[in-house]
Amino acid sequence: MRVLVTGAAGFIGSQVVDLLTGAGHEVVALDALLPQAHGAGLPEWSRRHAPVVGDVRDPDLLDRLLSGVDAVCHQAAMVGHGLDPSDAPAYASHNDYGTAVLLAAMHRAGVRRLVLASSMVVYGEGRYECSRH
Ligand SMILES: NC(=O)c1ccc[n+]([C@@H]2O[C@H](COP(=O)([O-])OP(=O)(O)OC[C@H]3O[C@@H](n4cnc5c(N)ncnc54)[C@H](O)[C@@H]3O)[C@@H](O)[C@H]2O)c1
Repeated sequence: MRVLVTGAAGFIGSQVVDLLTGAGHEVVALDALLPQAHGAGLPEWSRRHAPVVGDVRDPDLLDRLLSGVDAVCHQAAMVGHGLDPSDAPAYASHNDYGTAVLLAAMHRAGVRRLVLASSMVVYGEGRYECSRH
């Protein structure tokens, strides 16, 4: 399979790229290299993946990258809770709008298989109680 991995330089995306290539799949790696996640430059573990440095919110780039792609693994996101509500527009732009741009591009390209990473914000962080654990 040919798989587009977004957020390919990230914590999860880089592992996904390793697993896919190790299993013999062809990977198209994409990452915007957000300074919040990486500081300056490509992280050492991502050099072997030679990701395309670009933004998932760029429809023209997605149209090029999705050519011949069978499936998408979407890991590109700003992660965590942010510092305060002033981060909300950037989170909504990268995560919500970015996913919408990706879905529209997949529709144009006829790519129907998607693995979408949810967020820890869904299940929360902190103390949990469970009668069994
Ligand atoms: N790590 C966890 O424990 C965890 C838990 C639950 C959910 N998730 C979800 O998994 C996904 C990946 O998380 P992670 O831990 O690998 O984060 P990460 O910050 O290590 O990786 C995210 C990557 O996405 C890239 N990125 C951000 N916006 C982009 C954009 N607009 N275009 C292209 N690339 C962009 C960043 O540069 C970064 O390399 C996120 O959706 C996160 O919410 C992670």
